[in-house]
Amino acid sequence: MSVFQKVVINKGKAVVSGSITDLYKTKLCPCLRVADLGCSSGPNTLLLISEIIEAIDETCHELKLSTPEFQVFLNDLPTNDFNTIFKNLPDFYEKLKKEKGEKFGPCCSITGVPASFYHRLFPTSTIDFFHSSNSLNWLSQGLIEEAKVDSFDLPYYVPSRKEFEAIVCEEGSFSLDQQEIFEVNWDASSDDDDDDMIKESLKSDRFLSGQKMAKLTRAALESMLATHFGDAVIDILFSRYTEDVSNHLSKEEGKFIMFIIALREGSDRMEA
Ligand SMILES: C[S@@+](CC[C@H](N)C(=O)[O-])C[C@H]1O[C@@H](n2cnc3c(N)ncnc32)[C@H](O)[C@@H]1O
Repeated sequence: MSVFQKVVINKGKAVVSGSITDLYKTKLCPCLRVADLGCSSGPNTLLLISEIIEAIDETCHELKLSTPEFQVFLNDLPTNDFNTIFKNLPDFYEKLKKEKGEKFGPCCSITGVPASFYHRLFPTSTIDFFHSSNSLNWLSQGLIEEAKVDSFDLPYYVPSRKEFEAIVCEEGSFSLDQQEIFEVNWDASSDDDDDDMIKESLKSDRFLSGQKMAKLTRAALESMLATHFGDAVIDILFSRYTEDVSNHLSKEEGKFIMFIIALREGSDRMEA
């Protein structure tokens, strides 16, 4: 699961670094407050934070400024495994100190925010930079549980580029600062790997790719499916799904279309 998301995070790296660097150059605040919405608890959670710190540190070197302090808020649903993130924090702070010097230990503070991002998470004007990767496509599930509807309704929506632009314009708080669209293979390890030989052999083994895609989908959906349909059907469902995906991949390549979007506060750019 995390390999696919790592590919997406890597592709978005330039946009994230560029946006936060621009923001810092305008604000030059002593403490930069960053929130990651839908942070999960895998290896990518802290990777993103390192990249943000790296981008700001480089800018400060270029501009001969001292690096700001960082206050990072990691948000996810209360069921997220925040304990695993917290257990990894001492190593993360230690690594920062080793790579960036003593000043980084105490001046980066990381806090968990266990709540749905469909509710207000922070007091007004407390966060300088919001980031979210692979998470805002998950719609609120409350209603489904309360209404106990008979049929399964996957709380997932993927907007088109035009729909997204219209929502931003209509809502009016932000302007669209940067936008990139790219494709990632369903089997993201074939994007992640630099070795062409390995890429070729992965492409030729459609069953392996089908298994990977099924695992990725299972990691994302299992708990929702099990809650609704019961645990007993899960293994058989995903074994059939693996077969279907492998069959599909033997005929054509599977691609996700990913958007990387940077929004800026205020709607001036949109109108211009
Ligand atoms: C596919 S993971 C993405 C993890 C990480 N951002 C990445 O790119 O590797 C989606 C995450 O969004 C979280 N999520 C889904 N709906 C949410 C909500 N309403 N509020 C907060 N987090 C949510 C899930 O719990 C999950 O950890």
